[in-house]
Amino acid sequence: MIGVFDSGLGGLSVLREIVARRPDMSAIYVADSGHCPYGVKSADQIIERATVITDFLLAQGAQLIVVACNTATIAAVEYLRANYSVPFVGMEPAVKPAVARTRSGVIGVLATGAALAGNKLLTLIDRHRGSVRVITQPCPGLVEQVEAGDLDGPITVALLREYALPLLAAGADTLVLGCTHYPFLREALAQIVGPDVVLLDTGEAVARRVDSLLPAVDSAAAAGALRWYSSGELQQMNRVGSCLWGGAINADALTEDDGAR
Ligand code: DGL
Repeated sequence: MIGVFDSGLGGLSVLREIVARRPDMSAIYVADSGHCPYGVKSADQIIERATVITDFLLAQGAQLIVVACNTATIAAVEYLRANYSVPFVGMEPAVKPAVARTRSGVIGVLATGAALAGNKLLTLIDRHRGSVRVITQPCPGLVEQVEAGDLDGPITVALLREYALPLLAAGADTLVLGCTHYPFLREALAQIVGPDVVLLDTGEAVARRVDSLLPAVDSAAAAGALRWYSSGELQQMNRVGSCLWGGAINADALTEDDGAR
């Protein structure tokens, strides 16, 4: 069984790739919606949340944990790997494939403020950019729009235009979706940027990594079982989560005590 967590519902975009690749895998998904968004929190605050959730997932028997959140990966995955023996799979924005793919020589990276604040993403960009111009774009508000289930309403579209159009004007032909919430905005974004702009995310690559690390499931009886937890409003998780997931979600509450060691 694997554990998957995000600040909210964005990590469902990663879990769906994992399930597509490995329908036999059982998983527990934790949406930390009561503490969303992570994008405005300090690294210490995000590490604290990641620790509570990791303790909870390990208590449930997780053999591997997917940090299905770019912001939490950047802030906390090194800490988690140093302090727990279970393997962690984190997110890495698709900068390398974007650099390989661009024809115009300009790419845009859409991410949260916290993800862009640290050195880690900038180091990744420096490592892969070569002669390509990489423009980073913080996108405040988008995570909240996805959490509210507003994938293509006027406010969401206005935010997407505000963030994407300057990148296009600067010549970008490839955009990196550097937050796991953003794949749920792919269709609305594609309408704005048009069919010639490539949109890249990392869900499939993470699914391949999970597959390689966990070749066999623990118990055939539990194969394919999915369980859901949220630290936020369960109604919101069930309503919006079910829409994003494309199937019924019935979440239980994640209480702080659940995570106590
Ligand atoms: N899905 C998270 C990410 O990939 C969103 C972080 C947030 O809550 O701001 O970065």
